[in-house]
Parts: sequence; C-alpha cells; structure tokens
Amino acid sequence: MSILNSFRLDGRVALITGAARGLGWEMAQALAEAGAHVLLNGRTPERVQPRVEQLCASGLSAAMAPFDMADRAAMQQAVQDALAAGRIDVLINNVGERDRRSLDALTPADFERLIDVDLNAAFALAKMVLPDMLARRSGRIIMVTSIAADLAAPRSASYVAAKGGLAALVRAIAAETGARGVTCNAIAPGFFMTETNERMFNSPAGERWRERVPMRRFAEPREIAGAALFLASDAASYVNGHTLVVDGGVSATFITL
Ligand SMILES: NC(=O)c1ccc[n+]([C@@H]2O[C@H](COP(=O)([O-])OP(=O)(O)OC[C@H]3O[C@@H](n4cnc5c(N)ncnc54)[C@H](OP(=O)(O)O)[C@@H]3O)[C@@H](O)[C@H]2O)c1
Repeated sequence: MSILNSFRLDGRVALITGAARGLGWEMAQALAEAGAHVLLNGRTPERVQPRVEQLCASGLSAAMAPFDMADRAAMQQAVQDALAAGRIDVLINNVGERDRRSLDALTPADFERLIDVDLNAAFALAKMVLPDMLARRSGRIIMVTSIAADLAAPRSASYVAAKGGLAALVRAIAAETGARGVTCNAIAPGFFMTETNERMFNSPAGERWRERVPMRRFAEPREIAGAALFLASDAASYVNGHTLVVDGGVSATFITL
C-alpha cells in the first residue's frame, strides 16, 4: 500500500466532540476529506447542523451527534444510535471547557464541574465506544489535551488538573487496549487562534503570549488537522500512548530570542 493511501479513512466512522467550531471543526473536516463518515458533536444542534450541511454540500459524508458532555444519558443515547447505524472507528474527544478564575475565586464545586466535563466525561465516552472497538479489535481513541497538561498558567487550576489527568488517562488506556487492537493517543495543542481565543490573543496580554512562541505566531486552527488525520489513520498503526504536541515549540523551550 502506498504511504499516501495509509492516510485515507474511506469506510471509517469518526465521532468528533465539540466539532461545531474551533479545532474540532478543523479535525472533522480533515477526517471527512480523507474519506471518513464524520459524526459531529456539539451542545447546540443549531450550530452543528450547518456544519453537517456544509460537509455534505461538498460531497463529503457527515451527520449530527449533538449532546452535552455533562449529560451522560444523552451521550449514551448518541453512542447507541451511532452503533445501531454502524460503528465508531475513531473517537476524537475534543471538548475542553475552560475556567479562567483565580484560586481565590474558584470553589470546589467549580473545580468538580470542570473536571467532570473535561476529564470524567472523556473517560465515560471512551468507555462507551470501547466495547465495540475491542470486539472488532480495531479502533482509535484520540484525546485533545493541551500543553497545559504539563505547563501550568495562572487562573487555570481546574483546566490544568483536568488536562493533566486526561494525558495520564491516555497512557492508562493505551496500556490496556494496545494488545487488543485499539490505540489511544493525545494531541496537545499550544496557542491556536480559535474563535474562543481571538479576543485574548488580540489583546496586549496576547502579544506576550505570541512572543513566548519560538515561531512568533499563533497557530491557525487548520494547523491541528494533520496531527488528527495522522493519529486516526493507518499511518499511525504503531503509535500508542503518545502525546503529539502541536505548539510551535512552546513546550520545548523556556526562553525565546
Ligand atoms: N484553542 C487553543 O488554543 C487550545 C489550546 C490548547 C488546548 N485546546 C483544547 O482543544 C480543544 C478544542 O479547543 P477550541 O478552542 O477549539 O474549543 P472551542 O472553540 O471552545 O470549542 C467549541 C466547541 O466545543 C463544544 N462544546 C463546548 N462544551 C461542550 C460540552 N460540554 N458538550 C459538548 N460540546 C461542547 C461547542 O459546542 P457549542 O457550540 O454548543 O458551545 C463547540 O462545538 C479543547 O479541549 C481545548 O482545551 C485548545
């Protein structure tokens, strides 16, 4: 098989959470362009529907799978529906909410809520898709973590803790499922100019962040797509328990010139 063909995903089904915008949308487009049928998730069906229509209008294959990661019953129903319609070959657990409150302001209840959506829900969803993958001895689980899994920033305690836990969970899942045909990996983005970050990155404080990047620029959302396609594809057949960092060199450096 040609190496280029090993990046194709024809006939595969991929569920991408948080795919109505931002990095999830970019990864969903990439997988669809590579031939996958993509199931787009988001909390708001009205935001997911136009994205599905956009892909279908381009001749690609997509459907909606809307649910809130905090709602496990809705999550379970969406997974059941997807499995009843076929299967899930690739899960990209992309949802990651943020809470930028300081330690002074953050209550234990706030902390628990974010851990629930960013970490516990990712575990719950992985558990829901795994039995079918393991039975078929084939599957890809990709967790979107962050460079914040290893590098802390102020006013991010719950987010940093959730992403650190998620990065560790990737290794734990990989250790158990690798021998059974399912790989589990992470993508750790750095500073991406998504809609959510636009205002902050365009502020004077954002300029300090930009200077911290050895490449001296923020990433375009599309620059996440190659990492997702690689990890979802046969090209990554022997990659397991790995975190693929996409950060322009931030986490490799402690100072920039
Ligand atoms: N952007 C960056 O620079 C950066 C850096 C490091 C890590 N990351 C990680 O990359 C991932 C994506 O980041 P992003 O900036 O692209 O995020 P984003 O723009 O905030 O993602 C928004 C998408 O997530 C959905 N969503 C949010 N909460 C949800 C929930 N509880 N249940 C279901 N869907 C939910 C939104 O649905 P609605 O439209 O319904 O709200 C929307 O589709 C996150 O895990 C983030 O932590 C991003």
